Amino acid sequence: MEFTNFETVAIRTQLAQTAHHEHAAPVFLTSSFTFDSAEEGGLIFQGKKEGNLYSRFTNPNNAELVEKLKTMELVEDGITTASGMAAVYTVLASLLKSGDHIVACKSIFGNSKYILNNILPNMGIDVTYVAIHDQEAWEQAVQKNTKLLFLETPANPTLETADMTFLGKLCKAHDIIFAVDNCFATPYLQQPRKFGADIIIHSATKYIDGQGRVLGGAVLGDQQYISKCFDFVRRTGAALSPFNAWVLSKSLETLAVRMDRHCSNAQKLAEFLEQHPNIDFVNYPHLKSNPKYDIAKKQMSQGGGLVGCQVNGGQARGSRFLNALTLHSLTANLGDTRSIATHPASTTHSKLSSEEQLAINITPGYLRFSVGLEHIDDIIRDIDTALQVSST
Ligand SMILES: Cc1ncc(COP(=O)(O)O)c(C=O)c1O
Repeated sequence: MEFTNFETVAIRTQLAQTAHHEHAAPVFLTSSFTFDSAEEGGLIFQGKKEGNLYSRFTNPNNAELVEKLKTMELVEDGITTASGMAAVYTVLASLLKSGDHIVACKSIFGNSKYILNNILPNMGIDVTYVAIHDQEAWEQAVQKNTKLLFLETPANPTLETADMTFLGKLCKAHDIIFAVDNCFATPYLQQPRKFGADIIIHSATKYIDGQGRVLGGAVLGDQQYISKCFDFVRRTGAALSPFNAWVLSKSLETLAVRMDRHCSNAQKLAEFLEQHPNIDFVNYPHLKSNPKYDIAKKQMSQGGGLVGCQVNGGQARGSRFLNALTLHSLTANLGDTRSIATHPASTTHSKLSSEEQLAINITPGYLRFSVGLEHIDDIIRDIDTALQVSST
């Protein structure tokens, strides 16, 4: 039976049953695959016959995960990678060459910025950064040799939403590959393809796993791009373990219900923080006070599971607040069932100078909450109590 609804695709896209009639897909924890004959091995190696050879190239568990993600992201093809960073690097290293230029959003994850600033220049690839909402600057940044535009939306950790309709058109007009890191929204809330994205990148470590267990990544897009990424991963070894692929594919089965609860908890927390006297400002895509609320509403079906805010009193107060939390975990991950509080200036974005942090609105007192699936009353009570305790 053909099915297109997100939840059904997530649950019913499955490898063919083996002779054992298993209900859940088995884990194909094998490094290599055997051939029926010497001739068959040769044909598969030459690409003249379909078949698995070696798990650095392909594996049934990875194929199942790709099948789900490409359907969810409305694209032709995809590839899994060992982590989200492996996905980011795979896209940049396999689609660009010496002499090419990238336009990137200033507000991106610290390690993605590290690749753009420290690795690509050694390969003869330059980058120009643009503030997320400065449309004129995006237009002016495009050069004759601009090959790719890279951004995250919502961005880590400020949760600003880029206008993908505008940027998709800009890329089309100049024949630029439009690459979007969709890690924070997931395909359940947002499908960048609808706004002109050519490449969609995921850190599957976050909401796709959803329980903080495994690392993983994916690149989704049309065949012309994915075949180059596949070749890169297959030869350089950034491949995802089949066990992690199995975990991630099972996790996708519950993505929709998890995201619904992450989003409703986060919306309630954002509204609570917004009226709290100890909070200077709150960043959440679907808050009416968000200056880009219209764009966020158009692009995302719900506001996502992350909330940013600044506790008044700067970094010292922020540290006292974090130390007073008892339910929230203090860790740099996100997208877990467990609520997490992070201080981006000293962790995820600590590689940036304080000037660079301020330029992308990461103030010393800025905190990011990954709102989990605990009861919302307990999440709010923990934050409220910590705000009171840290004020003294
Ligand atoms: C937006 C974004 N992209 C990519 C990554 C990297 O993912 P991974 O940790 O799976 O390598 C992260 C990690 O936090 C992220 O937040």
